Amino acid sequence: MSRVEGKVALITGGASGIGLSAAALLAKEGAKVVIGDFNIEGAKEAAEAIIADGGEAAAIFLDASKEESIKAAVDFTVDQYGTLNVMFNNVGLTNLQKDLDVVNIDLEEWDRLMNVNTKSVLLGSRFAIPHMIEAGGGSIINTASMSAFAADSIRSAYGASKAAVVNLTKYIAAQYGKNNIRCNAVAPGLILTPAAKNNIPPQVLDMFEKYNALSYHGEADDIGYTVLFLASDESKFITGQTIQVEGGHYLSNPTMPDFNALMKQGK
Ligand code: NAI
Repeated sequence: MSRVEGKVALITGGASGIGLSAAALLAKEGAKVVIGDFNIEGAKEAAEAIIADGGEAAAIFLDASKEESIKAAVDFTVDQYGTLNVMFNNVGLTNLQKDLDVVNIDLEEWDRLMNVNTKSVLLGSRFAIPHMIEAGGGSIINTASMSAFAADSIRSAYGASKAAVVNLTKYIAAQYGKNNIRCNAVAPGLILTPAAKNNIPPQVLDMFEKYNALSYHGEADDIGYTVLFLASDESKFITGQTIQVEGGHYLSNPTMPDFNALMKQGK
């Protein structure tokens, strides 16, 4: 028996990166997968690849900034496969140009990121929960970020929006646990998805590697496998948690790499 045999999953932002990995892994382990993305061509390609591999999948246009679009994707999933067992609220945006420090942040960008990164999680859950109750339970998984826990010189809205995702995850878990609905989040550190590879200069990648406890970068499948675990009944007693998948980047005293360098110099 496969790990998520027969479960029906909707993934937002499933055409690329973390969502794409989760879609492929869930389908490989027996789930019927709906890939929602505003890159509909990419979503269709992802679904076709799953089908070519012997899995079951469908694609739908989804704009995570719009309530009616999220509802339409949930309705489509239930029409297509009869139920909804796994909701992966994964879409999230960042903007290095406008999401700045608190004095200089563009306030429209603050609203946009709160809407796409946090409200879409609320809405995806809101529309999925009645179907999950009807199905006798389900698993909601949200993509947070390590930016929820550690501050940066810019990206104030991103960090606040992801911290809200962490807490919303607990509220959903507390409110619907008695309906056999679990809700957990995954908080990735830097993950080399196409977006990250294209946008982050090599010096910055090296800097991240230096501060990881492990000596390599994270990949989309590192998050995809965590999502698979949280979607499966293997995690049936885990709820309200945010699992940090970050290579030990935030594990130690932040001065440790510099301290080690000093020790090497014999100082
Ligand atoms: P990605 O850019 O590879 O994939 C994101 C997907 O979401 C794309 O297919 C895009 O078309 C889709 N999308 C974007 N806005 C959308 C919208 N409004 N409606 C529907 N679809 C939309 O990104 P990645 O890296 O896989 O990120 C996924 C999640 O992981 C995000 O929530 C991000 O904040 C989070 N994350 C990523 C990290 C990383 O290092 N890659 C680190 C921490 C969190």
